[in-house]
Amino acid sequence: MKMFEEVMDWPGFVHNGTGLDYWEWKYRRRSCPGFASCAAWSNGHPVSHASWINSQMLVNGRELLAGQISDLYTHPNFRGHGLADRVLGCLNKHSLANDVEMMFAFPSSIGYEIMRKRGYFEIGSQFVQYQLITNPSKFFAQTKLGMLKRMAYEAMLAVRSPSLRGTVEEVDSFPEDVGEMTRAFEARFDLVARHSTEYLNWRYADPAGGMFRILITRQEARTTGFAVLRPYSMDDAHYMDIVDMMFDLNDPMVAQELIAAAISAAQDECADGIQTWLPGGHILAPILGRTGFLIRAPLTGERQLRMLYQTAEGEDELQKTLDRPDLKIHIMLGDTDWV
Ligand SMILES: CC(C)(COP(=O)(O)OP(=O)(O)OC[C@H]1O[C@@H](n2cnc3c(N)ncnc32)[C@H](O)[C@@H]1OP(=O)(O)O)[C@@H](O)C(=O)NCCC(=O)NCCS
Repeated sequence: MKMFEEVMDWPGFVHNGTGLDYWEWKYRRRSCPGFASCAAWSNGHPVSHASWINSQMLVNGRELLAGQISDLYTHPNFRGHGLADRVLGCLNKHSLANDVEMMFAFPSSIGYEIMRKRGYFEIGSQFVQYQLITNPSKFFAQTKLGMLKRMAYEAMLAVRSPSLRGTVEEVDSFPEDVGEMTRAFEARFDLVARHSTEYLNWRYADPAGGMFRILITRQEARTTGFAVLRPYSMDDAHYMDIVDMMFDLNDPMVAQELIAAAISAAQDECADGIQTWLPGGHILAPILGRTGFLIRAPLTGERQLRMLYQTAEGEDELQKTLDRPDLKIHIMLGDTDWV
């Protein structure tokens, strides 16, 4: 905690309470308890740090204990001396001793280079960012794209705008039965994080961890889907991310409705755009396309969502599975340490 307070301006997003409240929430109040944290010290001050936090993953339907690498940081005055490499090495030793079957991370571009050198592999599927411009007049005024593009985009949105059945509800916490719906959803993917009711409430319903809006759909009192939204501001512009979403795959209308409700929430918040990241080829992609979302190419130097992993020694089957280029993945922003 001392290290985080002294040298990091993290987390870089809005949450309730002090920085310490956030770190307490993240490390000590997890729904899946357990973490390891390694630091390098100079004159009694921490100067480099990395941790892994326990998380439950499902690979090919098998639930396993994984460690998500987080908070990798070296004080600017101490960079380039191999400290990040050494704290990552220290984490590996702890993960082996704690029966962690795989480690994974969503690194920055430098973190990516360091972890690749340490033998981490990249998940085959490329992540794609989707964006819907909710305020075309403002957006197109700021770009060089011009009037014609704006009119074409507005016309496309008018045609594609989905209608609401009116079953979406905003809630402060997840209903108890959501875990059954998420389990059925997860069973259709080869790599996905377990979204139990306890996990969802810890992750999104505790304001110490960040400010999220939770939408759910119900049918005859049964929870059929959820979407988690994160409004945020950057350079005087307002945006909204869809950070997480799961739904009854037997009723495609549920996903459409959640996306329509997310768009309407973004408009209420005067967000100029709504964005989300998905692994390539995800079942939600066509629904986003029908609703007016376009693929957003990252700007030069912008952080690209990529997933790295390393399996523990002897986990050959797991390694083989994760190596598959056709792996069906459901990983969204909320599964990362970006939000
Ligand atoms: C990323 C960061 C933790 C690296 O810390 P560090 O202690 O300087 O890293 P190391 O000295 O252990 O570097 C390990 C390897 O990465 C390389 N590396 C370090 N910084 C690099 C850079 N800016 N660009 C390219 N490679 C770099 C080193 O050359 C070294 O490779 P080598 O062993 O072949 O020489 C540090 O730059 C940082 O805190 N950045 C800001 C936060 C961040 O991006 N965190 C990562 C989140 S995943």
